[in-house]
Formats: sequence, C-alpha cells, structure tokens
Amino acid sequence: MNNNRSEAILNGKYYLIVESRVLNQINSKEYMDAYAGKEQSKTDKNHFLEIVRLVTELWAESEKQDMPVALKIAALCHDLDRIYPQREVNTKNCQKRDYETRKMIHSGNSAILFFEENPDLPKPLLHDVCYLILRHEVGGDRNAEGTMFDKPDEFTANYNLNVVADYLYYADKMSFFYSGIHEYKKRGKEKLKSKILFSLKGLPEKIIEKIRAVRFEDKFINECITDALRTIARNPRPL
Ligand SMILES: [Fe+2]
Repeated sequence: MNNNRSEAILNGKYYLIVESRVLNQINSKEYMDAYAGKEQSKTDKNHFLEIVRLVTELWAESEKQDMPVALKIAALCHDLDRIYPQREVNTKNCQKRDYETRKMIHSGNSAILFFEENPDLPKPLLHDVCYLILRHEVGGDRNAEGTMFDKPDEFTANYNLNVVADYLYYADKMSFFYSGIHEYKKRGKEKLKSKILFSLKGLPEKIIEKIRAVRFEDKFINECITDALRTIARNPRPL
C-alpha cells in the first residue's frame, strides 16, 4: 500500500473515531434529558453534518490538494459545547453588546472540550483542530491590511491553517442561511435583522452568490438580506 493511501485510511479513521464520540454524546441520557423536545436537539446533529458536507464541497471547488483531516474534524466539532449541557456557553439569550464576546468564549470552550474528549488522537492533529475551532467564528488570521498570515499546520505541514480556517468560517455562515434562518426568526425581527447583517459582513463574492441563490419564501427574510447586501463591505478574497 502506498504512503498516500495508508495516510488517507488513517485520517479517515481519526475522523470516524471523533464522529462516533460526537454521536454517542448526542444519543446520551445527559443530552436527551437536557435537550429532548427542544429545537437544539433537532439542529445540532444536522448542523454538524451539514458543515462537514459544505466545507468538503467548498474545498473541492477551490483547492487542488486533498482536504486536511483537521478541517473535516473541526467542521464536525466546531460547536461542540452545544451538545454538553453542563458546559454550553449561552450565546442565545444575552445583551447585544455581549454577543460577539460570548461567541468567542463558545469557540474556546468547544476547543477545550474537543481536546479533553479526544486525548488519543495525535497531538499535532489535536492542535490543528483546536486552532480551527478557535477561529470558526472569525476565519483565518490577517494583518490590519487584510493580508493573511502564514501558519503551517502541525500535522502535515502542507497547509496554511489560516486559509483552512476561512473554509470553516464560510461553511458555518452558509449553513445559517441554508438551515438556521427560519428558526432564528423566532427570536424576533430585530434580532434576525442584526444576525443577517452580522452573517453577511465581510464574506467574499463567491459565498454571497451562493447565499443569494437560496430561494426564501419569507418576505421579511428576503427584505433583510437585500438591505444587508446593499450596505455591507465585501471581502476582496476570491476564495
Ligand atoms: Fe459556533
């Protein structure tokens, strides 16, 4: 068996190990007792798997290299604290001024949980996945002019983790428009409006196009998206 093939098999195994742990937690009594019947229990699994699918598609559209296993695992685990009722960070019911800070705490918390729950994975892979989870609400690291810093991944040294982080960030944004938006509307029109603005801000044109292609039946959602697209600045990165 050549090296590339055995590496791919091993990487697939790492993903499956993590996936079975995530699914076990979603099927656990702790999870069911806390979330059964709530919207959270319907969206977690779907959202996690949707991000894996979206990130895989986005990567294949734009990159020649194989997708790093760290990205696939981070896509599955980016919101990990949402399935641990004792550890979840509340980002749903807080003051507007606290929202972005709490999102960052949620990212850090998910990275810690991921590290604790998967101690048998290779350390460099753990570090890469944690880096991606930590950045999933903001994307890759850039300087003040918008130029991306280089950060080689520890597991393979073949990828710039900041480029990789953008894929996770974009997939998460897209998922909100594909699946989360109608549920979010229940929080009220004002919250929905600012969430749409927050979600579209700084996205590259290619991602905006994908979101624009979604057909929403809801008149208010359509108006909010049209308004937001008129005002926001685009990220010049072509992806
Ligand atoms: Fe998140």
